[in-house]
Amino acid sequence: MTTDDTARAARLLHLHREALAKGDPVPPQITLAAMYHLPGDPAGARTYGRADNPTWEVLEQALAHLEGADTVVFPSGMAAIAAPLFALLGSGDRLLIPSDGYYTTRLLADRYLKRLGVTVDTRPTAGMEEGGFDGYRLVFLETPSNPGLDLCDLAAITAAVRAAGRLTVVDNTTMTPFGQRPLDLGADIVVAADTKAPNGHSDVLMGHVASRDDEIIAAVREWRKLSGSIPGPFECWLAHRGLETLELRFDRMCSSAAILAPRLAAHPAIRTIRYPGLATDPSHALAQRQMTRAGFLIGLTLQSAEAAEAFINNCPLLQPATSFGGVHSSAERRIRWGDAVDPGFVRLSVGCEPVEELWNALKASLDAGS
Ligand SMILES: Cc1ncc(COP(=O)(O)O)c(C=O)c1O
Repeated sequence: MTTDDTARAARLLHLHREALAKGDPVPPQITLAAMYHLPGDPAGARTYGRADNPTWEVLEQALAHLEGADTVVFPSGMAAIAAPLFALLGSGDRLLIPSDGYYTTRLLADRYLKRLGVTVDTRPTAGMEEGGFDGYRLVFLETPSNPGLDLCDLAAITAAVRAAGRLTVVDNTTMTPFGQRPLDLGADIVVAADTKAPNGHSDVLMGHVASRDDEIIAAVREWRKLSGSIPGPFECWLAHRGLETLELRFDRMCSSAAILAPRLAAHPAIRTIRYPGLATDPSHALAQRQMTRAGFLIGLTLQSAEAAEAFINNCPLLQPATSFGGVHSSAERRIRWGDAVDPGFVRLSVGCEPVEELWNALKASLDAGS
């Protein structure tokens, strides 16, 4: 972490206090309200539950503090991704998205944006710069990509797209603001699934959009109000509570992943490994330039689908589940959702278990299958 990151992490825990009056409860409150007391001219006041909510604002302030940018929260990562795509694109526009990123983003573009007249092109994350960006209204990036953990050069791509007067959106879900800061690297918009590490307890879906451009934020906020894509106050409260320990959990998860990756790489049951923190990884040099941590995800390819299933299901410290970023380590074979990966490919999400306990459990499960 940089000094800026530690300063941000420290102040995050006191942000809410700055607005307290004597006698106020210290934790944020859950406000359940469809209506607000609104006599006369509504200007400058909260108006209606689809437009405003004080508990959303608490979460937005915390995320805005971490992003260093205005932030709008959404009820899931996909709702956050949909917001800039639907608010900013129209008929005749071209959109470039990764061919190897989170598959639902591709499905959304394919099923809904195409029929509104948006042309959708795809490229692999590692080859994102090949072919240039002429003619694209919006370039959507995901780095490290889920699930393959390939990287693309954020500073180079955002500069090229900006020079052409166009916009970049970066899905920062796999890294969080403590591991990578796309807006500082030139991106116009960050989107993220706070369902993952920011909430961290696998009990809430949440997402956010952050940008330093007032017009973009206004367009995204308007999209939320008009489409009704609003989070529940209780979910925001839970996500805020999770966010307060993100720095602590992310630190443990990344440190553990860095210890486990070389040990896993050396295990005979592992055919190949992807982890940007390994010096042998094709993305290592770029990771060192643009990420402050190597993350908590590790891609492992075992000999077969059966070996991979046995590894996941026989390990008492691995939660078999889709999704990642929880306090508990989890894993799944991504081919079961149709990702273009080897049948034996496992996405491992390293959690908060003490690392030697976790290693012993992972090793025992790998040993049993090899
Ligand atoms: C990289 C990435 N972006 C976005 C999402 C969507 O998040 P949600 O499931 O909260 O809609 C996911 C979910 O797995 C993801 O992995």
